[in-house]
Amino acid sequence: MLAALAAAIVVDAPQQNAISLAGRQVSMVTILPTADAHVESFHRCLDAVARERRYLAFVEAPPVAALREFVRAIVAAGAIQVLALDGDIIVGWCDVLSRPMEGFRHVGVLGMGVAASHRRRGVGEQLAKAALEQSRAAGLKRVELEVFASNRGAIKLYEKLGFEHEGVKRFARNLDGAYEDVVLMAVVWEPSRSTATNAPAG
Ligand SMILES: CC(C)(COP(=O)(O)OP(=O)(O)OC[C@H]1O[C@@H](n2cnc3c(N)ncnc32)[C@H](O)[C@@H]1OP(=O)(O)O)[C@@H](O)C(=O)NCCC(=O)NCCS
Repeated sequence: MLAALAAAIVVDAPQQNAISLAGRQVSMVTILPTADAHVESFHRCLDAVARERRYLAFVEAPPVAALREFVRAIVAAGAIQVLALDGDIIVGWCDVLSRPMEGFRHVGVLGMGVAASHRRRGVGEQLAKAALEQSRAAGLKRVELEVFASNRGAIKLYEKLGFEHEGVKRFARNLDGAYEDVVLMAVVWEPSRSTATNAPAG
C-alpha cells in the first residue's frame, strides 16, 4: 500500500511549467475537455484534493471505475467538464453539471479543484472561466455552487468571476470535530423576469 502510494506520488510529481507574468507565477497548463484517456490521472488529482479533508464534500475520490463511468456519461451527454493538464498530468478540473429535472434545466452546478502543487498560479481561474464560457454558450442561465465558509481562496475566486452570495447553510458539515457553514453562491445571466411564474399576483 505504502509502495503504491509512493509510486503515485512520484508519477504525479508536479512538472511546474510556469512563467512569471507581472510578478505573478502562472502555470502553463493546457485546458482541455474531459476524456477517458485522462481518468486515472484525474482520479489521482481528485483523490488528493478530497483527502485534504477541507475543501470538498467528499473525503476520498470514488473508485476509478466509477469516475470513468461518470466521465463517459459527461462526454456522451455533451456536458461540461474541463481538465488542466501539465505535461501529461491532470492538475485540476472544473465541471458545470446541469440539473436534469424539468424546470431546472437552465441551472448548472459548479464543482472544481486544483492540485495543491499548482494553486495560486492562475489554473483555477483558467478552468472556471473555460467552464463558465461553455455554460453560457450552452444556454445555461444560472450557475450555482456550494463552498465551505472557511474556504476563503475559493470564495475570492468565485467573487472575482461574478458569483454573488445567496445564503448560508449553518452547521452544514461536522467533520473531524469541527462544524462548517456552507456558503451558497451563484451567477445569473440575463434571465427575463417577465417570464417568471412566481411573480406576485395582482
Ligand atoms: C479554490 C481553487 C480552485 C483556486 O484555484 P487556484 O488555481 O489556486 O486559483 P488562481 O491562482 O486561479 O486564483 C484566481 C483568483 O482566485 C482568488 N484566490 C485563489 N486562491 C486564493 C487564496 N488562497 N487566497 C486569496 N485569494 C485566492 C484570487 O482572487 C485569485 O486572483 P489573483 O491571483 O488575481 O489574486 C484552489 O485553491 C483549490 O483547488 N482549492 C482546493 C479545492 C477547492 O477548494 N475547490 C473548490 C470547492 S468549492
